[in-house]
Amino acid sequence: MLKSIRVRLTLWYLFVFGALLIVFSTYIYSSVSRDMRRRFDASILRNAQAMASYVTEFAERQNLEAGAKETVQELREGRESAAIYREGQLIASNGDDVTAAVASTRIQDAVGPDRKPAYITDPRANRRLVYMPFEFENVKYAIAMFEPLDKLEGEIAHMRNVILVGLPAVLLLAAGGGFLLARKSLQPMVVISEQAEHINATNLNERLEVAHPDDELGRLAGVFNALLSRLDTSFRVMREFMADASHELRTPLTIIHGEAQVSLAQDRAAEEYKKSLGIIRDQAKRMARIVSDMLALGRAEAGDQNLRVEELYLNDLVEECCQAAHSLAVTSHILLVCETPEDVLFLGNEELIRRMIVNLLDNAIHYTPDGGSVSVKLTGNQTSAQLVISDTGIGIPADCVGRVFDRFYRVNDPRIRPNGGSGLGLSIVKLAAESHCGSVKVVSEPNRGSTFTVALPL
Ligand SMILES: Nc1ncnc2c1ncn2[C@@H]1O[C@H](COP(=O)(O)OP(=O)(O)OP(=O)(O)O)[C@@H](O)[C@H]1O
Ligand SMILES: [Mg+2]
Repeated sequence: MLKSIRVRLTLWYLFVFGALLIVFSTYIYSSVSRDMRRRFDASILRNAQAMASYVTEFAERQNLEAGAKETVQELREGRESAAIYREGQLIASNGDDVTAAVASTRIQDAVGPDRKPAYITDPRANRRLVYMPFEFENVKYAIAMFEPLDKLEGEIAHMRNVILVGLPAVLLLAAGGGFLLARKSLQPMVVISEQAEHINATNLNERLEVAHPDDELGRLAGVFNALLSRLDTSFRVMREFMADASHELRTPLTIIHGEAQVSLAQDRAAEEYKKSLGIIRDQAKRMARIVSDMLALGRAEAGDQNLRVEELYLNDLVEECCQAAHSLAVTSHILLVCETPEDVLFLGNEELIRRMIVNLLDNAIHYTPDGGSVSVKLTGNQTSAQLVISDTGIGIPADCVGRVFDRFYRVNDPRIRPNGGSGLGLSIVKLAAESHCGSVKVVSEPNRGSTFTVALPL
């Protein structure tokens, strides 16, 4: 049960609210009861003062003893006991309880030099004793009053009971209210999780409904939706890639299968077997290239952390690739010119950069008819390097230029010599440039040639 946020929130709320309520009730209880006791003392003192004024009146009229007795006797109707003292001697009292209390508590000693009234509670009798000294015509008098505390204690106990019964009731109500509040505020979360539960690889295009996009949960749902969009895109790209890849691999597989079947159908001459095996070898080579290109793409795409980065000289790498392409250019009667400056130091993945240069060179030579020329030019400064590969080849039709970097895309041109290309070369070029924070551009004119420009930050 504690696993539910709703319950935990309610318990926390109850804990904080309960603690505050207890502190508050304790404060109210103690301050009100203190005030009630103070007022109780004040009312006894008022009675004592009234009695003192009677005493002085009787003293003026010279009938103090009788008057004092009459005054205290009248009090008996009320439930208080009182005693009057003159110069420490008892002159009148309406009960032994008060005189005994005065004697046993020695309350006179509590009266200080400033002769202020003294108060003592007798817990056994549950009564309050007040001793009020005063002076009249240089004679020292004192009035003692002994009041029962049960009415006051009853009122205080009543207040305490109200608090003790009310506190759990209020806490119970607060718990209910807190639970409802938590449920209401967490309801959108329940809705979100129910919706999210139904989203899987087949319906990644669905989105969570956002009722209030600006509150915390709305923002959470927004973030989740954005994540879904990204996942949807990568899933779609992956699916397309898989479909294209299997389509591409199917052609050589069909050729291999057909060739083998025809050869095995009947006995044939050694020459024919040789021819068939040659075809099978070429198709296997083509498949190997596709798989290796796909692997390179996948690895580069997997992210920068998998990309081993090292220091390399771009000019050396370009020269090496040009040398390797030289024989291909010679057999195609193409003039290959390579121009590189000194020491262009670059931080990157050698394999990927090499694949990029090789693919561009390969295309330039392959899509340039005999007698044409291909030029490779590397330039570099402190911040960036630029590799420009131009050819005088067949060019790319304007409506295809935008798509040549797409995976498996090939221009449909009858002049193109079949080389078993898979259409992955330029996607690798693009990914290689981009995974080194660079870019690649192409400018092409049909029948005049193409220029590919790669910019790489150093
Ligand atoms: N220098 C170029 N001149 C003319 N067309 C080009 C040139 N480079 C690329 N293309 C066109 O762009 C298409 C895509 O090129 P890409 O290198 O991606 O694939 P490919 O060369 O067909 O196959 P792969 O390189 O995978 O073996 C090519 O099929 C070609 O039509
Ligand atoms: Mg190519």
